[in-house]
Amino acid sequence: MRWRCRCSQAADTAAAGEDFAAALVPGDVVLLTGALGAGKTTFVQGVARGLGVAERVTSPTFTMVRPHACRRGAIATLWHADLYRVRSLDEVWDLALGELVEESAVALVEWGELAVSAFGRDAWTVHVAVDDEDETRLLEAVGARAGDDAPGRWES
Ligand SMILES: Nc1ncnc2c1ncn2[C@@H]1O[C@H](COP(=O)(O)OP(=O)(O)O)[C@@H](O)[C@H]1O
Ligand SMILES: [Mg+2]
Repeated sequence: MRWRCRCSQAADTAAAGEDFAAALVPGDVVLLTGALGAGKTTFVQGVARGLGVAERVTSPTFTMVRPHACRRGAIATLWHADLYRVRSLDEVWDLALGELVEESAVALVEWGELAVSAFGRDAWTVHVAVDDEDETRLLEAVGARAGDDAPGRWES
């Protein structure tokens, strides 16, 4: 499936993430793509809110991957990764995201294009595009599971 959501301010990007969280199940990997400053971290902050993460979520640029405990639903842990500093696919494999999500977890991966060949068609991709004229963001989610209904403010 393919869902879209137009976001005219940062709060909308976060709210789209919060709605998107409802579609996630344990084991899901979400590859986030889009330019620096597009809104990837903002989206993850919304997903975290949807999953009941209590602490503030910031970009894990220096640690590359960071766990957040979730207090709502079947997902126990949100792993937030940022591949901005990754130089090779070997480093992506070393993070072992596929294994991390096996324990009732999901992974959201900023600069996820670097991990496409590691996860292929099993992962979601969420692309964040910035409109040149008015700075609004167009979010496009391409999903692992066919037939899921678009959650909340997303449209099919
Ligand atoms: N829909 C939006 N409209 C305007 N600004 C946005 C929108 N979504 C996010 N932003 C802003 O864009 C900036 C960069 O967001 P961030 O999530 O850090 O981007 P990234 O992680 O992709 O580098 C932040 O100041 C954020 O508030
Ligand atoms: Mg970021």
